[in-house]
Amino acid sequence: MNHSRTVINNTLPSIWHGADYNPDQWLHMPEIIDQDLVLMEQAHCSVFPLGIFSWSSYEPEEGVFHFEWLEKILDQLYAAGRYVQLATPSGARPRWLAQKYPEVLRVQENRVRNLYGLRHNHCYTSPVMREKVARINTALAQRFGKHPAVLSWHISNEIGGECFCPLCVDAFRTWLHDKYNGDLGALNKNYWSSFWAHTYTDWSQIEPFCSHGDDDVIHGLNIDWKRFVTHQTADFFKEECKPLREYSAGIPITTNLMGFHPEELEKRALANQCDFTSWDSYPQWHDSLATNELQWGQQVAFLADYTRSLSRNGHFIQMEATPSLTNWQGIAKHKRPGVHHLASLLSVAQGADGVLYFQWRAGRGGSEKFHGSVVYHDSSEENRIFQDVSDLGARLQALQAVVGSEVRAKVAIIIDTVARWGISGAQGFHKDHKNYVTICQEWHDVLWQRGISVDIRESDEDLSRYDLVIAPMLYALRPETEHNLKSFVAQGGTLLGTAITGYADENDLCYLGGFPGPLRDLYGIWIEELDTLHDHDANSLVPLTDNSMNLHRTYQLRTYCERIHAESAQVLAVYGSDYYQGEPVLTVNQYDQGHAYYLASIIDEQGKCDIIDAFIQNLSLPQALPQQQQGVVATCRYTIDAQYCFLMNFNDTPAMAQLDTTAYTCIESGDPIACTLNLNAYEVRICKKGL
Ligand code: GAL
Repeated sequence: MNHSRTVINNTLPSIWHGADYNPDQWLHMPEIIDQDLVLMEQAHCSVFPLGIFSWSSYEPEEGVFHFEWLEKILDQLYAAGRYVQLATPSGARPRWLAQKYPEVLRVQENRVRNLYGLRHNHCYTSPVMREKVARINTALAQRFGKHPAVLSWHISNEIGGECFCPLCVDAFRTWLHDKYNGDLGALNKNYWSSFWAHTYTDWSQIEPFCSHGDDDVIHGLNIDWKRFVTHQTADFFKEECKPLREYSAGIPITTNLMGFHPEELEKRALANQCDFTSWDSYPQWHDSLATNELQWGQQVAFLADYTRSLSRNGHFIQMEATPSLTNWQGIAKHKRPGVHHLASLLSVAQGADGVLYFQWRAGRGGSEKFHGSVVYHDSSEENRIFQDVSDLGARLQALQAVVGSEVRAKVAIIIDTVARWGISGAQGFHKDHKNYVTICQEWHDVLWQRGISVDIRESDEDLSRYDLVIAPMLYALRPETEHNLKSFVAQGGTLLGTAITGYADENDLCYLGGFPGPLRDLYGIWIEELDTLHDHDANSLVPLTDNSMNLHRTYQLRTYCERIHAESAQVLAVYGSDYYQGEPVLTVNQYDQGHAYYLASIIDEQGKCDIIDAFIQNLSLPQALPQQQQGVVATCRYTIDAQYCFLMNFNDTPAMAQLDTTAYTCIESGDPIACTLNLNAYEVRICKKGL
């Protein structure tokens, strides 16, 4: 992590605030665009992702380009002090392209080619698609790559999806041929293909999964398919970026990632090509009768941390969120007063240097006309949403000092893509609800509520900067994982693994000789068997007296209970019931300079809290502030010489927040803040440590 203070683009060293802008929908009503320019200033919005779905306006027929409208709007925006994230338009191709070259349309898993429709519906292999995208991107970069209004590039939109067309299937076979050096025997071995007589005798027999053929028989093949989809998508992405790098050098590139969705993409293949990362944030605030929005806050914080961790330099922004409501979730409930500020400042608290929305202005037609927008059909600056956004914009301007400050994590959670692909395809266990990412997020929730910053890492990434690494349910191990985890612990790190760890290798072939496979000596245990519980069943964890974690309570265990044997490990707690009552469930193993803990089940929230509290104490993990009351969360960002604390109340009632004994100043008002302060419902206060 770079500890000096840098920003995404020096042209605008503030927290970016703005929204997706589609002026091409309003070219026939220039008065609307004039009005937009006035409203943008009133809303304190200065950054606009633009041209995301504009291909048919740029190139209404093949090879005929009309960029005049774009030139005009960029000039107008710049003159008004606004900036854009100029998009490449591949997210939605024009009709003429699909009509003339049907190969650009995606083929579904059932091998049926889609008609023209929707968006995000193109093949990543098609040479025609690649050529047309390169051409339009080159034209955009040559003409606008140095326009002073262009702050960054926004590649396509929410990239993802699979295509099963003949071109893709062929490319997959070639990719496999290269991967296995032309050795079909090696592929058969990795795929365990003698199972159900599935042995391949020719490369042309290889087909990616489909429900009318093989879907979950050859797991190694399914994982290779996802690797191929990642490779092909990343390669397409690279070609999208090429002309921008060439004609628009120095303008940073990003794309809007979607957390862990879609499953088939390993996100770092895209993120590594970006100069900063971004994500689209759509929690379903107010979805239940609960008076506390903490669960949605947890989700936003988790995905923000993931997006930040994906960034090569820690820079990231929230690219999309609704200013009010969505139109695609089951119920279009709008955010209650205060929640928009809370949701947006939460992203900043997790390290984001931008809060952008979908969308600036609601269109008159199309499926998103009732989606939330900064400017609604009334065009009124009196509108509650507009006012809310404008007030937030003013607040963000007052946070200038925070821009470029970083989040410092001493804890990492491993959420590994190969383990995720493996566990989700595995037949058995809790068959339909493996919940790998949720199980990982539950550890994040507990840490975040305690004001502990967390990074999210793949199992082969450098872990040396962390004191504690939690690797829940690490079902499959990459070739590098064993060495990586062992050297982290050997050098003094503390590792916590949980049930279903080390069952298979990177091809989803089970380890022989006992689970957790090559991690057996690290954890000092042997997993003999796995018992899966019904949702209405439970077991319990009973700590042994004088255990080194100081656990005293009995905790509920659910879903998975492994019967484990402590080999070199020391037992800290045992099962409380069933025929394996009294057998170990929580262990610790000294491994060189460090410790590897293993929890052979899924423990309730109180158990997670007590385990994390024990780590906080034993490892002196830094917390933003002392523990807050329920529903109040504090997190911190740092520069070399300053610390900024965000105090957030997720309750719909007032709550007290607690600072430590140091003096704090309110960033927005400049006033000193008392040690104990009252937060209104959903209120956020941001303070600087020191006067
Ligand atoms: C996003 C998408 C936007 C818009 C938004 C609506 O997934 O990128 O273009 O459709 O959803 O919530």
